[in-house]
Amino acid sequence: MSLPLRSMLFIPGDSEKKMAKAPTCGADAVILDLEDSVSPENKPLARRLVPDFLRTTPRGQRTVQYWVRVNPFDTGLTLDDLAAIMPGAPDGIMQPKTNDPGDVRRLSHYLDALEAVHGLERGSVKILPVATETAIAPFTLGQFATAGLDRLAGLTWGAEDLSAALGASTNVDASGEWAFTYKMARSLCLLAAHASGVQAIDTLYVDFRNEEGLRASCRAARAEGFTGRIAIHPAQVAGINEGFMPSPEEVDHARRVLQAFAAHPGAGTVGLDGKMVDIPHRKQAERTLAQARAFSP
Ligand code: COA
Ligand code: MG
Repeated sequence: MSLPLRSMLFIPGDSEKKMAKAPTCGADAVILDLEDSVSPENKPLARRLVPDFLRTTPRGQRTVQYWVRVNPFDTGLTLDDLAAIMPGAPDGIMQPKTNDPGDVRRLSHYLDALEAVHGLERGSVKILPVATETAIAPFTLGQFATAGLDRLAGLTWGAEDLSAALGASTNVDASGEWAFTYKMARSLCLLAAHASGVQAIDTLYVDFRNEEGLRASCRAARAEGFTGRIAIHPAQVAGINEGFMPSPEEVDHARRVLQAFAAHPGAGTVGLDGKMVDIPHRKQAERTLAQARAFSP
């Protein structure tokens, strides 16, 4: 699995001022955007600024992963986006509006060629598809598990473009929660990510001034199995990083689960605090400790 990502902060690629904040924003990755946060008239500008920014810090010296969201294939802009940014050695590409793993394979082939041209290690540029933004996409999510896509770092989902694709006037229900279709797409994304052995990245939390709401939402997402989340504002980064770290109580419990197994070599099930723990609990405990280790200073 590629490096773990709790928080990925979007930065519009036409804003030099916001991009300058990338190295110190505290996110695990930034996503320099060439797509929907950039107006058509500013796309050429963003295509110049993003590679300039990437080159300011070479790979290996970056404290934050530098990802780029390119425009999707049906715009005709993707190849030119890639040609512009690959000299800057991005760490990964966010691929919007994918229909299926075939779209990711096509991007991967382009990257094979461009890595060779620019002397980058083969396979080093990862891919994160936004895998629920078209009407067909949710039906193909399960195919990622057997697609053999070595560059696949995770799967994420988006509600805004899906509702546009459906001609829907809203994507929330009367109580403000995701409407059923979006809950379904989100769950399928979560399942497909784990079936594929990659990171499950939850979508953005729109209300960026509501810190408590964001924190509660991140805790809930992590409890369901999401491993990270998209941010749209620097103020969201700390809440997301914390929300996707195991709590001290969880780390302590995980240690005790593994100690209980260590005390009974060969046992498939042991007792702890009057409760049965078995192999799935052990795997969960190992995952919790791995997560805690990955981000301990
Ligand atoms: N990345 C880096 N810096 C950001 C930022 C971001 N995503 N969003 C805001 N900032 C900076 C601002 O430039 C400002 O800096 P300053 O204090 O030096 O002036 C500071 O953080 C506070 O910004 P604020 O005034 O609270 O927000 P805003 O009204 O300027 O911007 C948004 C609001 C939503 C436009 C902005 O957060 C943004 O551009 N988000 C990303 C949008 C995006 O990429 N969407 C694509 C995916 S849907
Ligand atoms: Mg979009």
